[in-house]
Amino acid sequence: MVTGGTGYIGSHTVVELQQSGYEVVIVDNLSNSRADVVDHIEQITGIRPAFEKVDCLDSEGLDAVFRKYPNVKGVIHFAASKAVGESVQKPLMYYRNNLGSLINLLELMPKHGVEGIIFSSSCTVYGQPDVLPVTEAAPIKKAESPYGNTKQVNEEIIQDFVASGAPINAILLRYFNPIGAHPTALIGELPNGVPQNLVPYVTQTAAGIRQQLSVFGNDYDTPDGSCIRDYIYVVDLAKAHVIAMERIFQHKQEKQVEVFNVGTGHGVSVLELVNAFERATGVKLNYRIVGRRAGDIEKIWANPERANKVLGWHADTPLEDILASAWKWQCTLS
Ligand code: UFG
Repeated sequence: MVTGGTGYIGSHTVVELQQSGYEVVIVDNLSNSRADVVDHIEQITGIRPAFEKVDCLDSEGLDAVFRKYPNVKGVIHFAASKAVGESVQKPLMYYRNNLGSLINLLELMPKHGVEGIIFSSSCTVYGQPDVLPVTEAAPIKKAESPYGNTKQVNEEIIQDFVASGAPINAILLRYFNPIGAHPTALIGELPNGVPQNLVPYVTQTAAGIRQQLSVFGNDYDTPDGSCIRDYIYVVDLAKAHVIAMERIFQHKQEKQVEVFNVGTGHGVSVLELVNAFERATGVKLNYRIVGRRAGDIEKIWANPERANKVLGWHADTPLEDILASAWKWQCTLS
């Protein structure tokens, strides 16, 4: 079962799961995605995933899905609200949605004999790390936003549930910054209003939908003064979920709850990304430097060694190829 399976990371993960031989049922309320994503997944893989339009807050609806698909053995839980700024405006909505959905799933899993869950966590749990690259052992810092707090609390809910003796196994994947689109350009990130994230803003500016990209700050303590992130190709990220699911099914876990950073290990500044985009696409980007954005972390990138060694997973798609995929996707939209 893939909750949020018509969303950005979810849809790419459904493709990789199907291509690895898994049968998938998508559960999504379509609050931030479209039903035709299911058609596009079918176009890519030749297999139509089952789709149930159900909100994970609807425990009875979710229970009915588990009853309808008694062979569900694992859950990958993407369904959540994810806009940092919106979470500051609507904290209760974020807490209700992101915490309630997970609690409903966890309650239903043992009842339906579902042994494993993979949870979409975020490097946001580290705040600004004291040591870079950041490892999974780094301390969890106070969250900058209600959204970030839901990721921290969700991790704790899973840990506490397992500690209580619940018969489930879990893998928490802490994503860095997912970007790009499927090479077929049949699925990708669907913009919802003015993009808040860098890459959709870059591609929309290149397409002429936005006039100019604002680069938020060039006075950070980084080589070129702009912020540094670890941009990971969404398809590489999707593949990490397949490997993690297999690890649960094959009982390879060292502990009932395991945590992995999912990043490339390379820090890239905003200005470096802009240059890489121009090189990859040949499109000149209209941008200007403006003031810092409130709440931004200065620099963060992953130490992905644990995922490399333990999962045998590597993110190796070159940045320019990833940005070319994002541009190809943008060109199908505009
Ligand atoms: N940026 C710009 N201009 C823009 C948009 C972004 O300069 O128009 C810069 C930001 O200042 C930042 C970098 O680009 O330095 C990346 O910004 P994003 O908004 O793309 O990503 P963030 O790292 O801020 O946030 C992402 C996810 C969050 C998640 C966080 C940490 O969007 O959901 O990573 O995991 F919480």
